Amino acid sequence: MAEVVILPDAPSAGALVADEIVRLIRDRPHAVLGLATGSTPLPVYEALRSRLHGVDVSRVRGFALDEYVGIDPAHPQSYRSVITREVVEPLGLVPALIRTPDGRLEGIQHAGDQYEDAIEAAGGIDLQLLGIGTDGHIGFNEPGSSFASRTRVKTLTGQTRADNARFFASVDEVPVHCITQGLGTILRARHLVLLAFGEGKADAVAGAVEGPVTASLPGSAIQLHPHVTVVVDEAAASRLHYAEYYRDVWRNKPEWQGL
Ligand code: GLP
Repeated sequence: MAEVVILPDAPSAGALVADEIVRLIRDRPHAVLGLATGSTPLPVYEALRSRLHGVDVSRVRGFALDEYVGIDPAHPQSYRSVITREVVEPLGLVPALIRTPDGRLEGIQHAGDQYEDAIEAAGGIDLQLLGIGTDGHIGFNEPGSSFASRTRVKTLTGQTRADNARFFASVDEVPVHCITQGLGTILRARHLVLLAFGEGKADAVAGAVEGPVTASLPGSAIQLHPHVTVVVDEAAASRLHYAEYYRDVWRNKPEWQGL
């Protein structure tokens, strides 16, 4: 079962997950992080800023979950730019060790396989951060995505494009295609940490954690993974049937278990 941690707000969630990432890096200086974009992981990156002072991050590697296809990598809303701005620069990571899928049109048909090869060559992802879309997508794996899928090009749903229009001048500027780690790729990471905040994510979280395992709600793939931590605020937890049990588990968690 996924461990569900219900916290009062996003900053406390960010602090909890940042502590775990620092522990991982101290333990494995060459740790491989799976980085997520969107607004949800920002409190984690924010909390990491102060915690990483004095920690050697020179060997930390990172792989972003996804990228838009056909967007100029220098566009401020390309996930390459977002990861550089929100993660690489503030945390002092080595840019050459942090990759995003290559969304440029030239060579796009091989970009997925190349990304998979790079993840494998790095020894796999140790800790994968995940947000969740209102339609239950993780990465950009929209409803219907195969649980065995690898990094590949997908078409965004109208809902995702509308959700992400806030980052662009209009919905028409949101790219139609993306390249994303597959659900199979995500399931190969050693530890999944899914975060969600706010009422708007409550249905997606309930479906992912407690609903049937179905490609119609890609986030439900986490139920197939042996080590998952779901960190949510009260609003995002509001439709969880077993919320009281999760609180009980967390209160009584043996310290030796770690996150
Ligand atoms: C985008 C990203 C996802 C992210 C989702 C939710 O579509 N590709 O990785 O989880 O949005 O975004 P937010 O965290 O801003 O709600």
